[in-house]
Amino acid sequence: MKEFGKVAVLMGGFSSEREVSLNSGAAILAALKSKGVDAHAFDPKETDLSELKTQGFQAAFNTLHGSYGEDGTVQGALEALGVRYTGCGVLASALGMDKYRSKLLWQALGLPIPPFAVLRDDSDFAKVEQELGLPLFIKPAAEGSSVGVHKIKQAGELQQKYRELRAQNLHGEILAEQFMSGGEYTCGVINRQALPSIRIIPANEFYDYEAKYQRDDTVYMCPSDLNDEDEKLMRNLALQAFAAIGGGNNCGRVDFLKDADGKLYILESNTLPGMTDHSLIPKAAKQAGIEFADLCIQILKIAYEVQ
Ligand SMILES: Nc1ncnc2c1ncn2[C@@H]1O[C@H](COP(=O)(O)OP(=O)(O)OP(=O)(O)O)[C@@H](O)[C@H]1O
Ligand SMILES: [Mg+2]
Repeated sequence: MKEFGKVAVLMGGFSSEREVSLNSGAAILAALKSKGVDAHAFDPKETDLSELKTQGFQAAFNTLHGSYGEDGTVQGALEALGVRYTGCGVLASALGMDKYRSKLLWQALGLPIPPFAVLRDDSDFAKVEQELGLPLFIKPAAEGSSVGVHKIKQAGELQQKYRELRAQNLHGEILAEQFMSGGEYTCGVINRQALPSIRIIPANEFYDYEAKYQRDDTVYMCPSDLNDEDEKLMRNLALQAFAAIGGGNNCGRVDFLKDADGKLYILESNTLPGMTDHSLIPKAAKQAGIEFADLCIQILKIAYEVQ
């Protein structure tokens, strides 16, 4: 596929998700090459981003997870350099990383989100525990990979956990969120179409860092266990939630929770989902009949379209 010219697969980078990014990048690089794309690995930690221009790259396939790669920073740098890139732009990337501000948007549009509260030093923690009920979840609004996410089970524990998180000087607000006990799902989108949903059954009590990256006994069901009506609803909500943050026709993922009564709620959006060949988007794409290499080509093509 000579029409793409020389393509840099941006991988590695500076975030705590560097290793995951290197895995995604290696899978994408191999896939693009298998389709005849003139693709090359490019690690911004080793080579200054400005080299993309001097080395004659036509496009950057962005697979830098976490801060810098996923939060709008690298997107802004690429815009300034005038290099086209895959995935969401500056605004959607920044919003997607901010759980609080994306919730506000979804709430304003009437989309279902779990009841939540923003915690501050002077919050009435006992009241929050009472209103949201126990157990509840506490989480920083701007971290990823389940960092800082805790399940609060006992009265009085919320304030103590809040103080611990505050002391870590994390970016952004700290949120308390009602516990949704009915199961966890995710739904991918690309080109304004939703992919089949996936049910995630974590090996640990919840889908924490260990369950995500270090254990191989998390169960992923695709097709999931949703009935036709809920499958349709989830796909629809995923498209609406992704459109709300400005995801356009790019590829992304929206995560969902079910409550005890089986009602669906939007948990969060991901604007730069994992792309190893055992990641969730590739799994869902496969279920929809799209092979991994073709998925990579679809994502690359979007970067060449006028948005
Ligand atoms: N309100 C909730 N009810 C039930 N489980 C929850 C709730 N909030 C979080 N969890 C559990 O904790 C996990 C991590 O929480 P969340 O997805 O909000 O943060 P994150 O994974 O750190 O963000 P990112 O996906 O951007 O890395 C979820 O996958 C889920 O298993
Ligand atoms: Mg998550």
